Amino acid sequence: MAETGTSRWTRRKLVKVSLAAAAAAALPGPLRAAEADAGFPMRVNGPDSLRAHAAARGLLFGSAVNPALLDVEGLEAGNTIDAYTQLIAGQANIVVAEDAMKWAALRPTPLAFDFAPADRLMRFAALAQQRVRGHNLCWHQALPAWFNTVVTRENARRLLVEHIQTVAGRYRGQIHSWDVVNEAVEPMDGRPDGLRKTPWLEMVGPDYIELAFQTAAVADPGAKLTYNDYDIELDTLEQSMKRGQVLMLLRRLKARGVPIQAVGVQSHLKADGPEPGAGLLTFLREAGKIGLEVYITEMDVNTCRLEGGPIVQDAAVARVYRDYLGMVLAEPNVPVALTWGITSAHSWLNQSKEPWVRRADGARQRPLPFDDDLRPTPAFGSIRSAIDAARPAVQAAPTSAPTPAIDPGSLYQPFSVPGSPTVPPPAPAAPTGPS
Ligand code: G3I
Repeated sequence: MAETGTSRWTRRKLVKVSLAAAAAAALPGPLRAAEADAGFPMRVNGPDSLRAHAAARGLLFGSAVNPALLDVEGLEAGNTIDAYTQLIAGQANIVVAEDAMKWAALRPTPLAFDFAPADRLMRFAALAQQRVRGHNLCWHQALPAWFNTVVTRENARRLLVEHIQTVAGRYRGQIHSWDVVNEAVEPMDGRPDGLRKTPWLEMVGPDYIELAFQTAAVADPGAKLTYNDYDIELDTLEQSMKRGQVLMLLRRLKARGVPIQAVGVQSHLKADGPEPGAGLLTFLREAGKIGLEVYITEMDVNTCRLEGGPIVQDAAVARVYRDYLGMVLAEPNVPVALTWGITSAHSWLNQSKEPWVRRADGARQRPLPFDDDLRPTPAFGSIRSAIDAARPAVQAAPTSAPTPAIDPGSLYQPFSVPGSPTVPPPAPAAPTGPS
């Protein structure tokens, strides 16, 4: 990846990726039209992008991606006209596969792996000079259809270890952070240790979490190994209990010397009801005290129970982003935030048939910084303001007026992130055109 291991990057390759990123920044037709749309004067690309603002503050900001929708070949050739591709390349300096690295996607049969979609994402991210999060190595959902008939108490441990060795090993040195174990805590399952009753727990035993982290640490020692969970943001009784159990798990792992460097707070928030507050802030700081970074891994804002049209929804969603990111990004151990998708066109909240994501009026949700037509929503502005307010700029502040001057050499230079092992050399001077 660009920010690490840059010794492998030749000058020629840096020029090529700068051109590709510049192509991404140079706005496809639909986006250019969206930006100029009457009634939405906000500039969102190049120096005005979330990517540029995050980079200026040493933050990683990005979103979950479906690699099947990415025009990797066009990006490589520097001539993509695909708006989704350009949006992801232009707005994110870190990406994560929404589904392509899960067991169900990688394991069509017990013996075969299908890495094509995951490899596609890695190729895209390398071209766009983005970091990549790995999601995930061990979860009780998104398991392949064969799992229940093939996996037993006798072979579960071996299968888990082999899976982690194969997947984390394949992308060794290229992943910013792996969600090694996802959603392993559920107080309602009634166990004293707070662990969720999952196939892994039942077939491997409670030490499956430790086993997964130990295996991942050997397979990819450079990745930040992360425990990731949801419904730990609010100060409701249920979420406070779960947050407490997650913290206990993290403390147990650290006390036992398990290699874990971060905790992911998914942040699937709701526009109605209480906002996160003191409990989460305490959690972030307690995590920091045991040496953990905290990543905001899957943020979106659900408006399924909010009455009112798009304007009301947009205002509520923007407010939640502003308040939430304003709070968490101010904490020094929170250097990464991702939204779960970038446009409502592809959000799981508009695809799931679950009743708790469907609006009574049948309208589509608008939970992300871009809408179904890839136009920026008010959430875009509140996310960018929260990024700006999070901490002092570590690079020159991006300009926002009057017209973005696209300079590939300056906009998309690799940047250093606090805690990164290496700082890449500066990009070469911007060429005047392809040679
Ligand atoms: O891949 C199959 C495809 O072959 C088939 O044609 C199609 C038919 O419906 O289904 C496809 O699988 C779907 C998969 O997404 C890929 O699109 C599954 O049905 C669908 O259940 C799956 O949903 C994903 C879900 O996790 C379960 O893996 C969502 O896209 C994804 O947004 C969601 O993400 C989770 C995080 O991983 C963990 N945290 C919560 C978050 C939201 O639920």
